[in-house]
Order: sequence, then structure tokens, then C-alpha cells
Amino acid sequence: MTKKTDSTVFKASWSYDAAPESTDHIQIKSQYDLFIDGEFTAPINGDYFETINPANHQLISKVAEATSKDVDKAVASAAKAYKKWSALSGKERGKYIFRIARLIQERARELSVIESLDGGKPIRESRDIDIPLAANHFFYYAGWADKLSYAFPNRNPKPLGVVGQIIPWNFPLLMAAWKIAPALATGNTVVLKPAETTSLTALKLAEIIKDSGLPKGVVNIVTGAGKTGAAIVEHPDIKKIAFTGSTGVGKYIQKAIAGTDKKLTLELGGKGANIIFEDAAIDQAVEGIINAIFFNQGHVCCAGSRLFVQESVAKSVIEKLKGRMNSLMIGDPLDKNTDIGAINSEKQLKIIENYINIGLNEGGEIYQPDCDMPKKGNWCKPTLFINVSQSHRIVQEEIFGPVLAIQTFRTIDEVIEKANNTPYGLSAGVWTEKGSKIFYLSQKLKAGVIWGNTFNKFDPASPFGGYKESGFGREGGLHGLKPYVKFE
Ligand code: NAI
Ligand code: MG
Repeated sequence: MTKKTDSTVFKASWSYDAAPESTDHIQIKSQYDLFIDGEFTAPINGDYFETINPANHQLISKVAEATSKDVDKAVASAAKAYKKWSALSGKERGKYIFRIARLIQERARELSVIESLDGGKPIRESRDIDIPLAANHFFYYAGWADKLSYAFPNRNPKPLGVVGQIIPWNFPLLMAAWKIAPALATGNTVVLKPAETTSLTALKLAEIIKDSGLPKGVVNIVTGAGKTGAAIVEHPDIKKIAFTGSTGVGKYIQKAIAGTDKKLTLELGGKGANIIFEDAAIDQAVEGIINAIFFNQGHVCCAGSRLFVQESVAKSVIEKLKGRMNSLMIGDPLDKNTDIGAINSEKQLKIIENYINIGLNEGGEIYQPDCDMPKKGNWCKPTLFINVSQSHRIVQEEIFGPVLAIQTFRTIDEVIEKANNTPYGLSAGVWTEKGSKIFYLSQKLKAGVIWGNTFNKFDPASPFGGYKESGFGREGGLHGLKPYVKFE
């Protein structure tokens, strides 16, 4: 029999009552049109697709499917609006962006609940992280709108024109904010497409944009799947594409626009290394490991999905980690106690389950807590694998789910080599008592973001982006303005 850890004892002796967030204050229409030229507009073909709640498979609403003709309309409206919008003073543009930020704050509760309903993430995360950060991105870039000459001294920055933005389903409203806010601050107009499983908060943002009085056509939001995205990518009047999503689609986009004068930024996948040295504060590091891989069900491009633990502390770290996993609460995303919500889609659940099987078939040793899971909906237990090595597919490939691959190391050089042995280069974390070690590793690790004694922390003022197959270009901070301007 295995020894009972503190947290299994805790779990056996305590239980939480359900604490669901109320949905009374939420208004969701039964059907949503496209947001083009400042109005909700029916799609030309009249096609709508369903968006469901991944936690119980119930239908939430229907969303318009934009064809290339609808995308043409959206681009034409953005091109028309560009003339006036780009000629406004930065101070005037800033006022609108500040207004959008404040309206997001005012409607934060509604947006959080809809984010969790439509995408499956725990309400604790949408309420405390996604929605406040989305508002903060608008606040931050509103502040830059009239200071572009300080951002780029003596370089006379000019906007590009109509920009096309395609976003994923893991941080729906936050990714819309990352894309729209810097584009508006620099004087561009926008055609944005949310992901097909999580369109609703982008459509709520369209309502907010309408309420803000932003001139018609400055932001257009078209819903649909890959085909709609491709119509944006291929549109001749679009000057720049900003994409966040899979490396596969990123590669397609790069090919599709090769030879054109379109600008491109790509924020793609990752396989972040989380490195625990023997001198780290172990209990904090264990909490950090949990946050690195189980935040948002592991649907995080910068997730710490590869754990490297120094050999001398590996046994105790893994023991404590298993104990902590036993106390995680999996279930209703709207329950305020929930740590791990629903997997975003059945498609993604199949991808994750397939990787778990690959890990087992390749000889990995699995651990999953013995916990109850809801009967209906898309669920996956938090999972870790030990006895895996660099050549295992679950160590090399992005899983985008709550699955952690653990390896050990003895020396700094060894862990640097192992951590960099990946086609990706988005994020890493280093846990140690020594600041000098953090600085040394931050120079040696090939990753766009490196956290010291923490993980998955985001701030609008801080640039974010990758190396290698994780993409190129930066979003956030001063760096995030640059992809939206040209210099004359
Ligand atoms: P995806 O890359 O297909 O979806 C992202 C966005 O791209 C969505 O809005 C989608 O409609 C759009 N899209 C799809 N095909 C397109 C095309 N040909 N042209 C233009 N836009 C297109 O990602 P998917 O299939 O939902 O997830 C598959 C894997 O991708 C995940 O398992 C994960 O590994 C990775 N992924 C990474 C993300 C990140 O944040 N880096 C986000 C989402 C997925
Ligand atoms: Mg949905």
C-alpha cells in the first residue's frame, strides 16, 4: 500500500460545498451575427454553427459562419474607416481605447462567466486573470496612443492599414485584447476572427466596442473556422496578419503570404521547460509546477510541460507533487472552488488522450489522482509521466493539455542542453535560491519568456513571443507596438 500523503488525508476528511457562480445576470442571444461596419450583420450565405458548453455539451448559442464574401465586406469597411481613424490624433484614439478598457471592467463579471461557459476554464481564472488582463491591455495601449513619438524617437511611425487577426480558443477575450489594443493605438483598423469553439466573448466585445462609440468599421469581428481564417490571410487589401494558434496553421500562413508585402507575426506552440534546482524553496516550486502545467487545463502555449528536477531532490519533489495533485478539484468550471475545468473541445480531448496513450506505449510511468469526474462533458485528469527521456514523443511534442513529462538532471550544463533540445522556444521557468543562477540560465535558455521562481505570470507592459517553431514577433509592451507600424 502506498503511504498516505498529507493531502489525501485532507481530502478524506474535508469536502467543499458547491459554490457555483450565478448565471442570472448573463444575457446570451440564441444567435449571433457578424460585426461589420459597426453593426451586427447577417452572414451572406445565412449559415450559422453551434457553440457548446464543453463541461456538459449543452448548446449555448449559434454563431454566424463568415465566407470570403463576408470577409470582403469586413475588409472594405475597415479600409474605409482607416482613412479617418489613422488621421485622428493619438490623444483622440486613446480616449476610445480607454473607454473600451473601462467598459470591459464594468462588464467583467458577465464576461468571466461567458468565458467559462463557452470555453470550459475555471471561473477563478477567467474572473481573476483573463478578464482583468484583457482590460489592462486596453488601458496599457491606450496610454501609448499619444506617445508613439516617444516609443520610436526620430522615426516617425505610421500605421499600416487594415490588419487581419486570428486568435485561438485558450484565452479568447485576452487574445482579442492582445491583438486589437496595439493595432488601434497605432492607428490601424482591424478584422479579427475568434476561434470557432469560443466566439462569444469576442462578440460581447463587439457589443462593448459598439457602446464605446468607436467609429464604425475600425474593428470588425467575423466568426467562423479555418476557411474564414484563410480568407483573411489571403485577402489582398490586408497589410498585416497577426496569428496565435498551432504551428501547423502558422506554417500554412507563412507560405500563403510568401512573396506578398504583408507583414506577419506568429505566436505558435511551445514545450516550456520548468527547471527545479536542489536549492529551490521546494514547496513553492511544487505550487509553481502545478500552476505551470495545470493552469487553464494545460491549454497554454507557454505551459511548463517539461519538468526538469535536480536528481538530489527529485524523489521528494515528485512525492509532494503527487500529493498536491490529489487535492486539485476537477469539475464545474463555474464553481469557484474548481482548479481544473473542462477540456475545450472533443477534438482537443482526443489529441490529449492520444498523447497519454503514446506516453504509455513508449514505456512512460503514469500518475493520475484517484478523483471523480463529471459524467458528461470533456474531462481529463491531471497527469504526470516519469521514466521518460528526450526521445519520447510526449517530451518533444506539444500536448496542450494537463500532461506533464518529468525528467531529472545533475548539472547546469546538462539541464541547459536538455531544455534547449526542442523545436520550440517560447517559455521556461527556473527555481533556485541563487539569483545568479537565474540570470545565467536566462542567457542560455532559448526561450522568449523566462520566469524566475514563478511561472505563467503576464503583464501588458512585458513583451511575449517565441524563438524557432514557437513563432516570431512580440506582443505586449513597447515591443508589441512595433509590428503595427512602419517607418518613413
Ligand atoms: P488552430 O491553429 O487550428 O486554431 C487557431 C486559430 O486558427 C482558430 O481561430 C482557427 O479557426 C484558425 N485557423 C485554422 N485553420 C486556419 C487556416 N487555414 N487559416 C487561417 N486560420 C486558421 O488550432 P487547433 O486545431 O484548434 O488546435 C490544435 C493544436 O494547436 C493544439 O493541440 C495546440 O497544440 C495548438 N494550439 C496552440 C495555441 C497557442 O496558443 N499557441 C492555441 C491553439 C492551439
Ligand atoms: Mg464553446
